[in-house]
Amino acid sequence: MSHKAQPIGVFDSGIGGMTVVRALMERSPFENIIYFGDTARTPYGVKSAETINHYSEEITRFLLNFDVKLLIIACNTMAAVAYETVKALSSVPVLEVIDAGARMAAQATRKKQVGVIGTPATVNSNVYARAIHRHDPSIRVFSQACPLFVPLVEEGWLDHQVTRLTAQEYMKPVLAEHIDTLVLGCTHYPLIKPLLQAVVGEEVFLVDSAEAMADITANLLTEMDLGNPQQSPPEYRFYVTDVPYRFQTIGERFLGRSIANINLAKL
Ligand code: DGL
Repeated sequence: MSHKAQPIGVFDSGIGGMTVVRALMERSPFENIIYFGDTARTPYGVKSAETINHYSEEITRFLLNFDVKLLIIACNTMAAVAYETVKALSSVPVLEVIDAGARMAAQATRKKQVGVIGTPATVNSNVYARAIHRHDPSIRVFSQACPLFVPLVEEGWLDHQVTRLTAQEYMKPVLAEHIDTLVLGCTHYPLIKPLLQAVVGEEVFLVDSAEAMADITANLLTEMDLGNPQQSPPEYRFYVTDVPYRFQTIGERFLGRSIANINLAKL
């Protein structure tokens, strides 16, 4: 296989990272992709940094065996806590969702007041604020952990009264700071984008880190002359550590298309 035809390895704590795969498929339609979701051990967002680092190390080793040309950490929680671990192990470039979202937020904010929502592990790490400040230190960042969103999205309650009430509650302190930009700092949140937009109001710009990630990947592939030029249909392979009940339904909702080639991974 030529270097350019080698797959991109994308990984997540479960199936949420498929929002990133979906954006990648749309933005870079000729790329071969291997997706890894740790469905047996998800969620990571409520676990300790030590455990998240240990799991991330195992997944990185697993994907490097496939001779990937690029690794993408689709999970905000892993990117926040274990980026250095993954980078130290990897022989290929590593991209992650946080810098992608931070860059977009810094460019978008006019009032220099940015909100960030994510899992408790992501918010506690303060990584988004640091990443945004690297682009513009004068921006004020207000973070809010939203642990209930992950189960609500997986339940499929994307336009449900319970999700709306939960969002209104979580958004209260962030909106009190008069933000004009809100970073959706978790794989699951792009699925409730319309609901969140209605709760925060049309004047707040929502940063979808999956889309930001897809743009940055496409640019890097061009820069490094690593894009797959082949016009034949790309190959998509999915590895998961467990195939839970309703996996297909939930996975297809995240991906926006049907999923084939699901394999059980042994780490
Ligand atoms: N993938 C995680 C993230 O983006 C959400 C699910 C989890 O907590 O594992 O933060």
